[in-house]
Amino acid sequence: MRRATSLGHEGCTIEARSRPSEGGTPTCESWLLLVSFFFSRFSVHRESLSGGRHSKRSCRWGTPPCVTFSEYRGDLKIRWQRDGLAFLHRSCCAAMPTTVTDRVYNFSPGPAVLPVPVLERIQDEMLCLPGVGASILEISHREKPFLGILKSAKENLTRLLNIPSNYKILFLQGGSRLQFSMVPMNLLRGQSQPAQYLLTGSWGKKAREEAVKEGKVEIPWDGKQHKYDRIPTASELKINPQAAYVHVTSNETIEGVQFLDEPNTAGAPLVCDASSDFMCRPLPMERYGLIYACAQKNAGPAGVTVVIVREDLLERSQDSLPGYLNYKAHAEEDSLYNTPPTFGIYVLNLVCEWLLNDVGGLDKMLQRNRAKSKLLYDVLDSSDGFYHGHAQPQSRSLMNVTFRLPNDDIEKKFLAGAQERGLTSLKGHRSVGGIRASIYNAMPVEGVELLRDYMTEFHKANA
Ligand SMILES: Cc1ncc(COP(=O)(O)O)c(C=O)c1O
Repeated sequence: MRRATSLGHEGCTIEARSRPSEGGTPTCESWLLLVSFFFSRFSVHRESLSGGRHSKRSCRWGTPPCVTFSEYRGDLKIRWQRDGLAFLHRSCCAAMPTTVTDRVYNFSPGPAVLPVPVLERIQDEMLCLPGVGASILEISHREKPFLGILKSAKENLTRLLNIPSNYKILFLQGGSRLQFSMVPMNLLRGQSQPAQYLLTGSWGKKAREEAVKEGKVEIPWDGKQHKYDRIPTASELKINPQAAYVHVTSNETIEGVQFLDEPNTAGAPLVCDASSDFMCRPLPMERYGLIYACAQKNAGPAGVTVVIVREDLLERSQDSLPGYLNYKAHAEEDSLYNTPPTFGIYVLNLVCEWLLNDVGGLDKMLQRNRAKSKLLYDVLDSSDGFYHGHAQPQSRSLMNVTFRLPNDDIEKKFLAGAQERGLTSLKGHRSVGGIRASIYNAMPVEGVELLRDYMTEFHKANA
């Protein structure tokens, strides 16, 4: 399955992984590797084959994406991750292996880009979790190795979000749309006061549609007359302090509008759909009654949904609820009420480790997200209206940058040109059209820079 390419660095053989069926002449490949090796950024991971990660060093000299080389020295596996010179690769070596070398910049709204070190770790551990002798896909959710992963995922989330001890972390299935039903089933059923739903876009409306099936719902604010292009100001909100809870969508993925701090709910429990901006910034968790997020945008793969709920709210869950739909049942069983999404929890834990160890926490992540989104919003603002942003500036999302071009034909041309440059999945949601660049936590700044440059160039050529 592997073709060895000797670079002889430090007297070691370094292997490039590729599929046997893939093309590329050895000469071309060797030249590419040599040139890339000297002019790109690389990082070195050392790990013990019998378990445990030893160290990681990295140097940054260029831009991704990447090739990975593995080297074995006794018990040690040394992995060289070499990022860079994507342009050289694309222009000269179309016939090169396409496993990891051809990664595009993927602006998909979800499932979305994951950090490359996380993907590599999954690849490395897929056959055999260190010290376990089996894949994460094969082990029991009730045995020690998985229980260790579950514990680690909860601890890492607690560290990242500073979650107080009176909150429970649940890992569920069914995506955020199941939460649209579970939230009112658990927190509204049997309550004397209505729930309030702030409507800042498409997902908030869908959440409300499910809540009205359970009980009375009030709308303290609806952005419909502004085509959901902004979030409300504090003075516009008509909060009922007695409300069973107040539901917000912190980031409207389709329209690209985001709450960058928590609305004042005057003491009513704040319930938040954070599906598309979970862990994009630090959160004052004590302001929340419940927060939920499907993982497939900012936290892992599709299939696992995180729910963080204040313990006192669990008392509202009635025993008559179907077992799986009862938060209390999941909390009492520590997310092991039934077989949990084990692989999703494993990947989510790796993403948390990446946020803690590689990024340096959520404050740092927020800085990066601000910087990345600014690159694109600056292009919109300096384009004399060629690019028309959907969101009003004070409500702009750090995660989903939404905009239109002068007409549908130019938008199609824009998308085709982007695709040619390896900038993919930029088409806006079918309900609103236009362009949407989803720049979640794992989107490297280099990808956003390439998009920015393309947008500038495209504007000049088509204005
Ligand atoms: C803000 C928001 N809420 C809810 C959902 C629905 O999530 P799921 O498909 O996991 O049910 C999405 C999906 O894109 C979303 O962006």
